[in-house]
Amino acid sequence: MTTSMTSIDSLLHETRRFPPSPEFVANAVATPALAAAAAKDRLGFWAEQSRELLDWHTPFTQTLDWSDAPFARWFADGRLNVAYNCLDRHVLAGNGDRIAIHWEGEPGDSRSLSYAELTAEVKKAANALAALGVTKGDRIAVYLPVIPEAVIAMLAIARLGAIHSVVFGGFSADSLRARIDDAQAKLVITADGGWRKGKVFPLKDTVDAAVEGTSVEHVLVVRRGGNDIGWTQGRDLWWHDTVGTADPEHEAEAFDAENPLFILYTSGTTGKPKGILHSSGGYLTQVAYTHKNVFDLHPESDVFWCTADIGWITGHSYVVYGPLANGATQLLYEGTPDTPHPGRWWELIEKYRVSILYAAPTAIRSLMKLGREIPDRFDLSSIRVLGSVGEPINPEAWIWYHDVVGAGTAPIVDTWWQTETGAIMISPLPGITSLKPGSAQAAVPGIEIAVVDDDGAPVPKGSGGLLVITEPWPSMARGIWGDDERFVETYWSKFAEQGYYFAGDGARIDEDGDVWLLGRVDDVMNVSGHRLSTAEIESALVSHPMVAESAVVGAYDETTGQAVVAFVILRAEHAEQHTPDEASTALRGHVASAIGAIARPREIFIVAELPKTRSGKIMRRLLRDVAEGRPIGDTTTLADPAVMRLIEQMSKAK
Ligand code: WT7
Repeated sequence: MTTSMTSIDSLLHETRRFPPSPEFVANAVATPALAAAAAKDRLGFWAEQSRELLDWHTPFTQTLDWSDAPFARWFADGRLNVAYNCLDRHVLAGNGDRIAIHWEGEPGDSRSLSYAELTAEVKKAANALAALGVTKGDRIAVYLPVIPEAVIAMLAIARLGAIHSVVFGGFSADSLRARIDDAQAKLVITADGGWRKGKVFPLKDTVDAAVEGTSVEHVLVVRRGGNDIGWTQGRDLWWHDTVGTADPEHEAEAFDAENPLFILYTSGTTGKPKGILHSSGGYLTQVAYTHKNVFDLHPESDVFWCTADIGWITGHSYVVYGPLANGATQLLYEGTPDTPHPGRWWELIEKYRVSILYAAPTAIRSLMKLGREIPDRFDLSSIRVLGSVGEPINPEAWIWYHDVVGAGTAPIVDTWWQTETGAIMISPLPGITSLKPGSAQAAVPGIEIAVVDDDGAPVPKGSGGLLVITEPWPSMARGIWGDDERFVETYWSKFAEQGYYFAGDGARIDEDGDVWLLGRVDDVMNVSGHRLSTAEIESALVSHPMVAESAVVGAYDETTGQAVVAFVILRAEHAEQHTPDEASTALRGHVASAIGAIARPREIFIVAELPKTRSGKIMRRLLRDVAEGRPIGDTTTLADPAVMRLIEQMSKAK
C-alpha cells in the first residue's frame, strides 16, 4: 500500500472541483430525490427500484432475508427470467427495432443486432443448449472473444436457469481447466480463435488441452478466427450447425430470484482462485439501477460503450446485464485500443456516435502517452459522460480524459466496486456531484459504507483506514462456489462482531466526506485494473524445476498501475547453468503459460536470499522498495539484515 499511500497524499492536494453544468442537471436521470428516498427507507427503496426496473413473473413480497448472514436472500419469493428482462420485454414494449449491439471486430468487420434480432438469437441458442441437455443449475464454461456470440451464449444460459462461468480468453489451459473442474462444467462454449493485435489467437486448442479428463461432455465452437483447429468427433459441435439451425421460438421460464446466475473466478490471497457466485433478482436490480443512474442513461438516444472484456465482472455487469436490462444501445469491440492504428478507439466513438464511454485508467494512461494529436483527429463531440473503473485514476489522467475525450465538459464517474459486489458501490452521480479528480466520492444511494480502523471504529475525517460495507446490498456475492467457509473467512470474519463486509481496500474519507481509495491492503495486486494474487504467481514460479523459492510483489507502474515483479532463488544446479537473464526470460514465459499473459512478471530478479522475519515471513514491503527503486526501509525485524544489501546489489547489477 506504500506507493498508493504516497500518491494519495499528493492527491489530497488536488483542489479542483467540477460541478455539473446547468444543462446537464436539467436532463439528469439521477436527482437528489434518489438519495432522499434511500435514506428514508433503504429496503423500501431497493424494493421500489427492483419493481420499477425489472419485470417480475411473480412479484416478490419480501425484500431482504438476512437471517442466514452473510448469505443474503433478496426478493426471495419473487420469480423472474433474467434473459426475458434483457430481451423479450423490450421487443414486447415496441423497441424491437432499437439496436442492442453494434459490434465491431478488430479487423474492421461489423455487425449490428436489434433487440428483436438479439432476442431471436438467444432463443435459438437456448433451444440448442436445451437439446444438449443443459438445464437449470448446470454449469457452462464460456471461453470466447468479445463477439456477439459471447453475449448470446451468456443470455441463453441465463434463460435456461443454468449458470455461466466465463473465463477470460487470455487465461491458460491450466487456468481454464482449474475453473472447469472447480465448477464441474458440463459444456464449454468457445471459438476457433479471436482477433487480437492484428493476429488470430487460438482458443479451441487451449480448450482441447484443458478439457481432457474433465466433466465436460461437449465443446460448442463458434467460427471466428478461421484458424485450423483439432476436432473430437462426438464431443465437438459447431455453433452454426447447432444454434444456427435451432428454432427461434423459446418461451422464457421464470426462476426464483435467488437462482444462481453466474460464477466468476477472481484471485484471492491464496493460490486458488475463488468462484464468486451471483444470483438473479438482486444482481439484475443493482446493475440496472447503477447503469441507469451512474451513467445518466437515456436509452432512446445514448450509445453506451464499456470497453471491458466479458471475461471480467465489468463485462458481465456493464456489457451484458446492466445495458440490456435497461434497453440500451451499445458498442461491443473485439480488439485492442491500438489496432490497426493508435486512434482506433476514437475512430469507433466517431463512427458509432458513442455518448457514454466506460474505460479503465490503464487504457486511458496509455492512450494519453500517445499524445492528444491522435484523438484530436476524430470527432468525439458525441461524448457526454465518461466512466473509470478498476483502480484509482490519477488526476493527470483524469484531467486528460475530461479535457481531451470529454471536451472539458463531460462528467467523469470514477466507480469503485469489485467482482464480489457485483455492481457499482461508490461513485459520483453525474448530475449531482461536484467532481474531484482522483476520488470515487460517495456510496451510491442505497449503499452504506464506512472507513474503519482495525477494531471496526470509524476513522476520523482525513485519516486512512479500511473500507467496509456496513449493510447488505442486492448484488452482493452469494458465496464462493463450493466453499462457504472461505466466503465467511475472507470477507466477513475481520469485522464479524459488527457484521461488516471487508472489501480488502484501504481508503480515506476527506473533510467533505468524500472517499479516496488507497489500494489493496492484502497480497492482491491490481495490474491494468485486473486482480492478480501474489500467492498464485509464486506457486506458478515454484512449479518450475529451476526455482527453489520465490516472492512476488506489485510494484508501481506508470501505465498498468501496478506491475508484477518477482524475486526468485534458483536451485543450486540451475544457478550455475543459466545466466540470470536466461533464467528470468524462461520464468517469465513459464508464468504466462501457467496462468495467462496478464500474469507475466514485468521483471524477475534472481537473488540468493529473500528477506524474512525471524518467524520466516517474507517482508514484501522491502522487496517493493527494491522493485520501485526506492531506498530500502526499516530492516530491523529481518532475521538477517545483510540479506537486503545483497538483494540491492544484485538488482543494481542487473
Ligand atoms: C478491486 C476489485 C470492479 C471491476 C473491476 C475490478 C480496485 C476497482 C476502483 C476504483 C480504486 C478500484 C479495488 C477493488 N478498484 N475500482 N474506481 N478506484 N480502486 O474488479 O477484479 O474484482 O477488483 O479493484 O482495489 O478491490 P476486481
